[in-house]
Amino acid sequence: MQRILITGSNRGIGLELTRRYLERGEQVFATCRQPQAAADLNQLAAQYPDRLSILALEVTDEAAIAECVRQVSAQTDALDMLINNAGILPGGVAAREANIGTFGQLEAAAMLHVFEVNSVAPVMVAQAFAGLLRQGQQPRLINVSSDAGSITMRNKGCDYSYPASKAALNMLTRCLSGDLRGDDVSVVSMHPGFIKTDMGGPNARLTLDEAIPEMMRVMDGLTLEDTGQFFNWDGKSVPW
Ligand SMILES: NC(=O)c1ccc[n+]([C@@H]2O[C@H](COP(=O)([O-])OP(=O)(O)OC[C@H]3O[C@@H](n4cnc5c(N)ncnc54)[C@H](OP(=O)(O)O)[C@@H]3O)[C@@H](O)[C@H]2O)c1
Repeated sequence: MQRILITGSNRGIGLELTRRYLERGEQVFATCRQPQAAADLNQLAAQYPDRLSILALEVTDEAAIAECVRQVSAQTDALDMLINNAGILPGGVAAREANIGTFGQLEAAAMLHVFEVNSVAPVMVAQAFAGLLRQGQQPRLINVSSDAGSITMRNKGCDYSYPASKAALNMLTRCLSGDLRGDDVSVVSMHPGFIKTDMGGPNARLTLDEAIPEMMRVMDGLTLEDTGQFFNWDGKSVPW
């Protein structure tokens, strides 16, 4: 049984990963901003009371991260996988960030918030949970990135903060992989696919059913040989 922590697990990709890992028999620490309002997670908790813990975590709040570590540590002495999934695309794919992403109308505070959630928070979460990960079996840290953050693939104008925040996350994956390699923790960035969620919108290419089992297969197989790499949901490499 793997011990897995997933951020932003109340909807979208995080919820689907939680559901499928529970079906498979794993122990899941599912974090979200408002546990009481997380109806789907609470339904899963009723079904899997012994293997699902729902924990409050606003990923930009360092005190909340510390409290979350305390609560997880009270239940387990190790994590085998930490999935930094929480992320934002203000306005969603359809709105393309409205004022936040239009050159000529960019707002520093709005851009910084996207970096805070998508780039900085995953590192702070990783730093806080590193002690538990180091004790895990085949420990893996997955930063859910996006191919939108690929500098190589970017050949037209863009909406600034989201792609740049994921490009920064990719560099931070590389930094973390260097620091955690000695502890046998494999650290990767993963593009989950363009998926129909609140963020991806109804016109996204993939369903959760198509992408998530493949993404789980790839995450299952990650070893130290993969550390520091950027993978697509189907296991192919994504160019930086
Ligand atoms: N869907 C796609 O096509 C796609 C493509 C490439 C990459 N991704 C990446 O995949 C990840 C999940 O995306 P998704 O499609 O599942 O998005 P989603 O449906 O919009 O869900 C985002 C999740 O992140 C949580 N979250 C946002 N800000 C947070 C914060 N400050 N603290 C804690 N939780 C926070 C949300 O919680 P609330 O419910 O409280 O807001 C929600 O649970 C993201 O990192 C995204 O960038 C998605």
